[in-house]
Amino acid sequence: MDEKTKIYYDLVKRRKSVREFLDKPVPLDILSRLLMTLNRAQSAANRQPWHFIVVEKKDRDELNNVFTKDGFKNAPIAIVACADRPQAWVRKTDGMNYAWVDVAIAVTEMIGAATAEGLGACWVASLDAERVKAILGIPANLEVVAIIAIGYPATELKREDKPRKPIKEIIHYGRWQE
Ligand SMILES: Cc1cc2nc3c(=O)[nH]c(=O)nc-3n(C[C@H](O)[C@H](O)[C@H](O)COP(=O)(O)O)c2cc1C
Repeated sequence: MDEKTKIYYDLVKRRKSVREFLDKPVPLDILSRLLMTLNRAQSAANRQPWHFIVVEKKDRDELNNVFTKDGFKNAPIAIVACADRPQAWVRKTDGMNYAWVDVAIAVTEMIGAATAEGLGACWVASLDAERVKAILGIPANLEVVAIIAIGYPATELKREDKPRKPIKEIIHYGRWQE
């Protein structure tokens, strides 16, 4: 494996959800690179059915109450990821709306970049989405998919082997096989 390839796979293995953060701001140039990845992400039919609200810690007095884990309250940056369902591509054969898929892809790109920057991040889906909308004045037509807490990890990001399903259980070759 050449060096560039190895860098990518090392990043994938290093990433893990970070729920405790240092009290250290994320520099603006790094933040703008992360936001660029949201703008650069792929989406079905290039519809880009998303909005992201960047909320710094100093502006989160009210929003921090939606977190059930205290660690997230300290994250210097929280990005509220919203799906714009009416803007999304819809699969004709079954009416499946791809807004949440597209948002998830963009967020995943950003978390990869955050990991490369030495930051840690965590998806927070366990929250009261309607409350988030009310606090931030998010228009009714948008859906809050998650808040992404981002900051410098309180402990060093190391490879961690969290239990994963055996690869044979989730990958099927040729056709469905139990
Ligand atoms: C869609 C989604 C929602 C999640 N919501 C939460 C959450 O509400 N709170 C939390 O602590 N972690 C949340 N996580 C993090 C997962 O628990 C974590 O990704 C999983 O346990 C695997 O661990 P890893 O990210 O360290 O590899 C979420 C992750 C995803 C992808």
